[in-house]
Amino acid sequence: MIAVRAREIPPFIVMDVLERAQVLETQGEEVIHLEVGEPDFETPACIKQAAARAMTEGKTHYTHSLGLLELREAITEHYQHKYGVSVKPENIIVTAGTSPAMFLIFAALIEPGDEIILPDPHYACYPNFIRFLGGRPVYVPVREENGFVYEVEEVKKAISPRTKAVLINSPANPTGMLTPPEVIKELAELGIPLISDEIYHGLVYEGKEHSALEFTDNAFVLNGFSKAYAMTGWRLGYLIAPSAFIRPMQKIQQNFFICAPSIAQYAAITALKEAQPDVERMRAIYDERRKYLFSALKEMNLAPKRPPQGAFYFFINVKHITTNSYRLAFDILEKVRVAVTPGIDFGKRGEGFLRLSYANSLEDIKEGLKRLKTYLERYAG
Ligand SMILES: Cc1ncc(COP(=O)(O)O)c(C=O)c1O
Repeated sequence: MIAVRAREIPPFIVMDVLERAQVLETQGEEVIHLEVGEPDFETPACIKQAAARAMTEGKTHYTHSLGLLELREAITEHYQHKYGVSVKPENIIVTAGTSPAMFLIFAALIEPGDEIILPDPHYACYPNFIRFLGGRPVYVPVREENGFVYEVEEVKKAISPRTKAVLINSPANPTGMLTPPEVIKELAELGIPLISDEIYHGLVYEGKEHSALEFTDNAFVLNGFSKAYAMTGWRLGYLIAPSAFIRPMQKIQQNFFICAPSIAQYAAITALKEAQPDVERMRAIYDERRKYLFSALKEMNLAPKRPPQGAFYFFINVKHITTNSYRLAFDILEKVRVAVTPGIDFGKRGEGFLRLSYANSLEDIKEGLKRLKTYLERYAG
């Protein structure tokens, strides 16, 4: 018999959309991909060269379970330089992607029945990690009219004796919105640890991203190289945590993952030290697409009230068309060959929305919107 935790974990629906799109492609159909949250850029050349060097030099062994000291020092410098916060290398654990870092943090925090406060909508996988570890996600609505930002009063009301942390993700997946610094500050003042997923930092077009560490030491930071450095397949991320948690998390890492990939770690040192111009180049291109999409969606009456400020997503309200975003997304795929992510993937309050990713060329985005327009005219009357 298959264990309940394995039977009951929900799928990551965006992967189901992608896999259905791939079936259509093997049948010769041309699908426009606006579903996946993955940079369309290649990893910058200097990073690839650093990896090739590491490989040639035989740096192919296990590393320290916390990660290479040189990489942790580079992360320290990055946080000092970008946010003016001082982080010690011994408070960092390098992991095989941000996802394992999430696992380590939740595993170190949650006893059965403990609660983690999450925004709704939210990145699809958070509640699944929490439930898998016996915890309970407690949702606080974030509303379109409020820029999809927490209302601190509502967070306060959601706190119980079992609350272990409040999660913030800014800029956010799926909404692309930033949490203003004064809100992070107020959340920090609640005295509950913050878990701050900073994976989209570096991809901000309006305003400025802030680390939770600017406001409190009582925080767990998640970050990684997948998005800003276009390194999804390298599988490299990290966490920053209070000292008392490091040894327990290190033991989990040693047992379950041993260490993060060595070649990716060497490459990441170069990413932090040399790839900022590449990050800026990619950011500028995303911004151009974002501006195009906002005005094109406006013409289609699908634009959000405010343009997203970061990441590479638009979360568009389609409640006037459907209350079943799952069915709508698959119908759009079948009828006009555009893959989009149903809002329900991101929680109950994501229902009635679709997420469009602009991690795709402007040419594809234009073709995708043209097809969406056709779909709306023909099938969504
Ligand atoms: C908000 C957020 N956090 C974490 C991740 C996971 O990233 P990684 O590739 O580093 O595991 C993603 C991936 O889409 C994400 O959107």
